Amino acid sequence: MKAYKRILVTAALPYANGPVHIGHLAGCYIPADIYVRYQRAQKRDIKFVGGSDEHGVPITIRAMKEGVSPQQIVDKYHAIIKESFTRMNISFDIYARTSNPVHHKTSADFFKKLYDDGLFEEKETEQYYDEKAKVFLADRYITGTCPVCGNPNAYGDQCEKCGSTLSPEQLINPKSTLSDAVPVKRNTKHWYFPLQNYETWLKQWVLEDHKEWKNNVYGQCKSWLDGGLQSRAMTRDSNWGVKVPLPDAEGKVLYVWFDAPIGYISATKELTDKWDDYWCREDTKLVHFIGKDNIVFHCIIFPAMLKAHGNFVLPDNVPANEFLNIEGEKVSTSRNWAVWVHEYIKDFPGCEDVLRYVLCANAPETKDNDFTWKDFQDRNNSELVAIFGNFVNRALVLMHKLCGGKVPPLHKDVVDIYDNQLIEDISIAKEKITRCLEEYKFREALFEVIDLARKGNKYMQDKEPWIKAKKLSEGGASAELAQKEIDNCLHLSLQLTANLAIFINPFLPATAQKMLHMLKVVDKMLDWENAGSLKLLSVGYTLRAPELLFRKIEDTEIAAQVEKLRANAVNPSAQPVTEEKVKPVEDKPVQKPEIVYDDFAKLDLKVGTITAAEKVEKADKLLKLEVDLGFEKRTIVSGIAMHFIPEAIVGKQVVVVANLAPRKMRGIESNGMILMAEDKEGNLHFVNPENTIEPGAGVS
Ligand code: 2FM
Ligand code: ZN
Repeated sequence: MKAYKRILVTAALPYANGPVHIGHLAGCYIPADIYVRYQRAQKRDIKFVGGSDEHGVPITIRAMKEGVSPQQIVDKYHAIIKESFTRMNISFDIYARTSNPVHHKTSADFFKKLYDDGLFEEKETEQYYDEKAKVFLADRYITGTCPVCGNPNAYGDQCEKCGSTLSPEQLINPKSTLSDAVPVKRNTKHWYFPLQNYETWLKQWVLEDHKEWKNNVYGQCKSWLDGGLQSRAMTRDSNWGVKVPLPDAEGKVLYVWFDAPIGYISATKELTDKWDDYWCREDTKLVHFIGKDNIVFHCIIFPAMLKAHGNFVLPDNVPANEFLNIEGEKVSTSRNWAVWVHEYIKDFPGCEDVLRYVLCANAPETKDNDFTWKDFQDRNNSELVAIFGNFVNRALVLMHKLCGGKVPPLHKDVVDIYDNQLIEDISIAKEKITRCLEEYKFREALFEVIDLARKGNKYMQDKEPWIKAKKLSEGGASAELAQKEIDNCLHLSLQLTANLAIFINPFLPATAQKMLHMLKVVDKMLDWENAGSLKLLSVGYTLRAPELLFRKIEDTEIAAQVEKLRANAVNPSAQPVTEEKVKPVEDKPVQKPEIVYDDFAKLDLKVGTITAAEKVEKADKLLKLEVDLGFEKRTIVSGIAMHFIPEAIVGKQVVVVANLAPRKMRGIESNGMILMAEDKEGNLHFVNPENTIEPGAGVS
């Protein structure tokens, strides 16, 4: 294996002609982000570049359909796409645009260098022309019947039914998509890149030197290379795009697939003055994350362009994913059969990590896969909530209950086989997860993380600290032994929790942050070199109260999503995806109308101590609390069950609205209300006095 000094990761530049859907995320943005976050944790020199692809036919067609300019289209969708990535925590170092001047110059210079080196063929050929719209019809401007499968709606560059690559001349009964006119042939001049001249080199470079590439990527390259390569036009007749930098090229622009991948170079230029370290030094590892429809461009055409240019590094790997179908059907943006990321963010606020989890756990890494809302719910409820979240919670709750809120010591004299097994499991997990991440096997890596949490649950079940706790009151030697065994169990469970934070961080960064908060440790703990350590939390260190990492997703939420998908697909015009902008997160808190002092004075606020807490049957959100108000004890039903586990909050002080009229919830009369503060992530926090005081104290 080559020794690399720095890594440059690119993720496909999405066309700014529509919002991104979850297929885009699963295809390349989530795997790219996981890889980058992992490499950052390894402290490697890495840059992650992306941006919007703002040229090409899809954009001009969308502009014509909406009756606006291409610039208006790209401005609108660039903003929507960028916001979706930000909200999903895709941590680009830069998210650029191919309409930026630096990109126009970089791609025009690239073209000019190949031109000056005599590497293009200049050809005048007959091409279809729309006399009504007065434009040449390339690629998607022209449709007709596929000569291979008979699909009547094949495009000038590809038949989406059988996947054949086509040229407009091959279509039977061609028709302009702009005006429905039957096109005529006219002469036009273009610059062709003779791919066949690079065939021998490509065969060696891809098929011999990169046998380690993923099977799906290698296989697609092989069938292209076996089929033989031909010259491809690298320019188009259009006014939208990078102008061909030659004197006799009025009305000609670079083909979008010529300029888009150069967008990776221009984005790096915008990011850093040292861009050429990343592009021009042999010891840079260049990795392109893409979806399968982009394989040929990234593995054959762009590398041939880079090779022809001569100044740039070639990709070390192109770990492309296959497609993600939705509820058993192919994603179709025209039918609106898609789950749009900006819609998801609105419908499931605070659940970005859940989507990241499901799209990685079910990623189409080796073959097309299916996303179903039921699977989304199952993975959340039975993996994130029941395994990972449950373990972390138990560890923290029991530590607060049985070890006084501090990290207990590890007593070497009572270490048993379960403890040793867990210690070994942590170290094996580090080795496996690291190897999988280095090899772009993100699904497997994530499985190993969850499996480690599963082992944590099993460990607790075997050690049963809650049973041992019963012996504590017996006093004497047996109580002493019980405390030591409890200490060991929780010491190791907490060290495992800290390790889980490191391991989950590349996949679910917001969850890792919540864990850091509870463990009261800084970001630095997430450095990969710390993984495997059993000394991440110091003995005697006080930790914060636990909060739930994930919430259960209800059947009703899932039914609503399935219904929405079907309803919008049946009637595509009913969907708002192209009309609505995603609102940025509101920074300003909601403000209620002004009140006078007398309004406030009506509230009887008192400090209380929670003396008992239990779940309310068949009500996932409710806890039944007994609260001591000094002068009396109250039963209060509170909707906080998704945030706290009952055992953990016994003994906590709270502020109670003591004169709230009684209300029945699930058959239980609630006498008062507990004040809670909610943070940006939707986590609840008790409002309470700084130091413990007598219950019943007034608050004003
Ligand atoms: O398929 C697409 O959405 C293209 N816009 C991807 C371009 S990737 C890169 F080459 F810029
Ligand atoms: Zn076909």
